[in-house]
Amino acid sequence: MNDSAVLLNPRSVRDSQSEMAEIVLPNDANPLGALLGGRLMHWIDLAGAMAAHRHSRHYVVTASIDHLDFLVPVRVGDLVILRSSVNRVFRTSMEVGVKVWVENYISDSSAYLTYVAVDREGCRLPVPAVVPEDDEEQRRYEDAGRRREIRRTELERRRHRMR
Ligand SMILES: CC(C)(COP(=O)(O)OP(=O)(O)OC[C@H]1O[C@@H](n2cnc3c(N)ncnc32)[C@H](O)[C@@H]1OP(=O)(O)O)[C@@H](O)C(=O)NCCC(=O)NCCS
Repeated sequence: MNDSAVLLNPRSVRDSQSEMAEIVLPNDANPLGALLGGRLMHWIDLAGAMAAHRHSRHYVVTASIDHLDFLVPVRVGDLVILRSSVNRVFRTSMEVGVKVWVENYISDSSAYLTYVAVDREGCRLPVPAVVPEDDEEQRRYEDAGRRREIRRTELERRRHRMR
């Protein structure tokens, strides 16, 4: 098997799982001491890109971030934990789920991002399939398919409006 065929061998969700932890510092916060939403989005994007890169073994660019709710204020000194993994691969794109925990809070939140694998010149590359191995991974895989349809419809609607 040549190198490019090996690169397209299906991989488990486990292989893409990534974790990041950040302590909220004053520079990450607004004057009220609450974490800036934009900083959290940056961390979510980084955590998501890690999983996408681990899975595809290529450079990746962020194509979209689904909507995000900020459920609880996160304070200076809090420890934020982000866990990510690939939910589903389409052709050159993959949906990654990122879960965010704030240690000591009960609630957590999730974000779904789509990354596209590209080479150094920015040309899109096919991504190996991801194989769900348990019920939870299977549920995420199926949900990702439904979300993709919604995204495509929404994108088409926005493009139509811009014409
Ligand atoms: C993302 C990007 C590569 C898609 O390019 P494009 O010309 O729209 O390409 P295509 O229409 O062929 O789509 C390529 C894939 O991306 C997916 N895609 C494109 N736009 C998308 C969007 N808004 N949301 C989710 N997926 C999207 C397509 O469904 C397709 O997936 P598939 O190959 O798995 O079926 C291009 O829009 C781009 O380079 N955007 C800028 C990325 C960037 O700079 N991100 C921030 C910094 S990393």
